[in-house]
Amino acid sequence: MDFHRFARWFRDSSPYIREHRDKIFVVLMPSASLQHSHIGNTVRDLALLHVLGIKLVLIIEATATNRASFVNILKSLFSRGLPSSRYRNHAIPLAEETFVLSDEFHMGTNTVELLESHREQAARIAQTLNQGSIALIAPSFDPSSNERSSAEAVDDVAAVLALGIGADKLIILHEPASLVRDPNVVNSDLSTDAFQKILAEQLFEKSTIHRMSALLLACRRGVNRGHIVSYETDGALLAELFTADGSGTQISTDDYLTIRRATVTDMDAVLELMQADIDQDRLVPRTRDLLSSDSTTIFLAEHDNIPVGCVALYSLAQGMQEIGTLLAAPKHRDRNIGSRLLSRAETEARKRGAHHVYVFTKHAVDWFSRQDYLPATLDSLPDSNRAAYDHERQSTLLIKELQ
Ligand SMILES: CC(C)(COP(=O)(O)OP(=O)(O)OC[C@H]1O[C@@H](n2cnc3c(N)ncnc32)[C@H](O)[C@@H]1OP(=O)(O)O)[C@@H](O)C(=O)NCCC(=O)NCCS
Repeated sequence: MDFHRFARWFRDSSPYIREHRDKIFVVLMPSASLQHSHIGNTVRDLALLHVLGIKLVLIIEATATNRASFVNILKSLFSRGLPSSRYRNHAIPLAEETFVLSDEFHMGTNTVELLESHREQAARIAQTLNQGSIALIAPSFDPSSNERSSAEAVDDVAAVLALGIGADKLIILHEPASLVRDPNVVNSDLSTDAFQKILAEQLFEKSTIHRMSALLLACRRGVNRGHIVSYETDGALLAELFTADGSGTQISTDDYLTIRRATVTDMDAVLELMQADIDQDRLVPRTRDLLSSDSTTIFLAEHDNIPVGCVALYSLAQGMQEIGTLLAAPKHRDRNIGSRLLSRAETEARKRGAHHVYVFTKHAVDWFSRQDYLPATLDSLPDSNRAAYDHERQSTLLIKELQ
């Protein structure tokens, strides 16, 4: 076993374990997720969240025909506990609960009405959670009594219950987990305003619009975070909750930083951002041609659409790629912009086949050391990359192995 890698992963995830403990997460499981071949692993991951002290409410989308079978599948899977651990054969308590939307209920475009009957039902479900059970709700509805489909009914229940119970998160298992179709956008943290814009500007199926609007309303009315997580990608739920980068889309009312791949039209902004650090000899000047060349990828961090940082990945050789031109605008330093940009560039390098990345720096050696970069000598680099070294400048070479 690679202890170093294991310890690093565990250390990195431990702040999230502490943060999530005792919080209430409402998880909407569409019927496709329940019929997917990964359902066993999804349940296993949910059971793990329960063991870590997270209070879970599972809301499943079912029709009158498949409701009983879905409930039985979940009961059977949770009854196995956590396979391959000492919790195996220790059933995870799962209590079937009901939550009925009042006939007076109306989910408007900007409001979710919380009626007294909803609060009372949410309080009863909260008691179940406090007694140590996961709550399972399979909303049933009478299609003749209103115009909602079973899918829409489950969305409304999820939003209203998440608000009524004071959930910290409303998680929707969904394919795809990113609604952003622009391949240049790599960031998955969206403000509610940005999320609303995506829903308004892109073409989605009516059912997706309804589901995501319910998520948006829940976030706007008080649920701390909304998450859209893949049920097809094994482990996506754990990655979303326990890693800094996450795996899906996170929505919150905070103003979020967006990181996206820069395009030719962003080059002026990138050059402008770099200038102050070039003047102070912290960055080496790079030509517009190099920054726009095919072997260079630039990521731009924006806050409220204003550029606040950038990083470049120079992919001259496949196995070992250079990271450079990393900066956070002076007013925006110490807010993890640098570390998040670096992490994006490393992810991209990994995708392009790199096993190592390196950086030349004069003034940020300690900063890179904290990000697991180690000092190295020039002969560690391939000839083609070594040629670019500026001997006069005497920067330090630091290398990181990508795992
Ligand atoms: C290096 C840089 C990109 C870090 O970005 P950032 O967004 O401010 O960094 P983060 O928020 O991720 O990390 C902040 C931490 O790093 C520390 N730090 C910042 N710059 C540092 C440096 N040059 N050396 C050592 N530590 C540094 C901060 O004190 C802070 O420490 P704390 O977490 O203990 O409070 C930014 O300082 C910068 O733009 N510097 C000028 C350009 C440069 O030198 N780029 C590197 C050459 S490629």
